Amino acid sequence: MAVERTLSIIKPDATTRNLTGKINAKFEDAGLRIVAQKRIQLTKAQAGEFYAVHKERPFYDELCEFMASAPVVVQVLEGEGAIAKNRDVMGATNPADAAAGTIRAEFAESVGENSVHGSDAPETAAEEIAYFFSGLELVG
Ligand code: CMP
Repeated sequence: MAVERTLSIIKPDATTRNLTGKINAKFEDAGLRIVAQKRIQLTKAQAGEFYAVHKERPFYDELCEFMASAPVVVQVLEGEGAIAKNRDVMGATNPADAAAGTIRAEFAESVGENSVHGSDAPETAAEEIAYFFSGLELVG
């Protein structure tokens, strides 16, 4: 399997509960390497641009408000099949459907406040990584 990179975001519900370290341990235990990471405060406009694909969804405004409500940790995870592996480690979007042991099963509060985001495909991973990081910031 090819080595990939994927964009991960530790969301406000998790950063405000001091869960960054516990979530990072889940990634590292699964064999994902954190090759870039920074804690930032998004504006609502920046969150809206990042989630533009969801613009027409009924939860878009609420999602953008939430993502700008407190700091997030944006990171790039690297590893074999990193995109799918990260989605396995995160669990289903709705924590009620997430498998035991996944980040969302253990930490997420609701479908909206679900602790983590992860890219869903190679093209979106490349776009999402470029939204937050320059090439110089990725240290494998
Ligand atoms: P994420 O993987 O970051 O991608 C889009 C986000 O929209 C998703 O996680 C959820 O947090 C959020 N989302 C999806 N469905 C709903 C919903 N029904 N209500 C609120 N937020 C949602």
